[in-house]
Amino acid sequence: MKIIIINGPNLNLLGKRETDIYGDHSFEDFFEILKDKYDWFEIDYFQSNIEGELIDKIQEVGFSYDGIILNAAAYTHTSVGIRDAVSAVNSPVIEVHISNTASREEFRHDSYITPVAQGLIMGFGLQSYELALQSFIN
Ligand code: DQA
Repeated sequence: MKIIIINGPNLNLLGKRETDIYGDHSFEDFFEILKDKYDWFEIDYFQSNIEGELIDKIQEVGFSYDGIILNAAAYTHTSVGIRDAVSAVNSPVIEVHISNTASREEFRHDSYITPVAQGLIMGFGLQSYELALQSFIN
């Protein structure tokens, strides 16, 4: 089963960025552990700070992969383009957030992605990605 994790802007700084909210592990370290633990999945990873690159990647993988785990980060709250890309592809998209955005500033409460995603997992730290991955097991 082929799955990709797509991370949006500033998530390349995990481990350094606002560690009280996002924790002190880099995504790269976490990703290695995840790949080892779930080695029967083929898991790819892509990160970009650029909206159009995220849209290009969703289009590229979205007709052949079995699932997309998407943390669009700040673009969650702003991007009609990413939402339209999620709607356009066939692969199921699970929206993920490290923090519980509903308990944070009001501008983080709305997501353009949630209405077109298969599901939403948030608030469990990096474990949110693992829970999203587990949703593909059945
Ligand atoms: C985030 C939440 C977003 O509001 C924020 O802009 C991020 C990370 C999260 O994973 O908690 O960059 O998507």
